[in-house]
Amino acid sequence: MSNRTFTMIKPDAVANNHIGPILAKINEAGFRIIAMKYTRLSPELAAKFYAIHKERPFYNDLVNYMSGGPIVAAILEKNNAVEDFRKLIGATDPAKAEPGTIRNLFAKSIDANAIHGSDSNENAEIEGSFFFSQTERF
Ligand code: RTP
Ligand code: MG
Repeated sequence: MSNRTFTMIKPDAVANNHIGPILAKINEAGFRIIAMKYTRLSPELAAKFYAIHKERPFYNDLVNYMSGGPIVAAILEKNNAVEDFRKLIGATDPAKAEPGTIRNLFAKSIDANAIHGSDSNENAEIEGSFFFSQTERF
């Protein structure tokens, strides 16, 4: 599992027709798609997914935001996937994201920041399992 990570293309990027360009960047960076679905989180599921942040001041906004429109969820594979994917997406705040990163190119604000990437191997496995059963992974 150390060569896998989990991502979501967030509602802002889906609404702005950035699914295609973002998937192209992900493939060009050497990630292989293991599982993928176009779906929408209910407020209850978004709250569960981000439960780790429930004491943070931005939690309610985050839950409302992530359940506000469709997303694309995916499991990705590459050597050193978690760390390399975090580099590819850039800093949480797009104003601080390196040029050429996905958030630098496609995100508008710290809330509408285009994409999620798991922050550890353990969370990559938990988050992938949240969206996909074993038989949905190829
Ligand atoms: P993500 O989990 O979505 O990949 O983002 P991240 O690791 O870069 O950032 P994280 O600390 O996990 O925060 C999750 C999401 O909450 C929003 N956030 N807002 N206003 C704030 O200070 C703040 N901090 C975080 C962001 O939308 C972030 O992606
Ligand atoms: Mg995070």
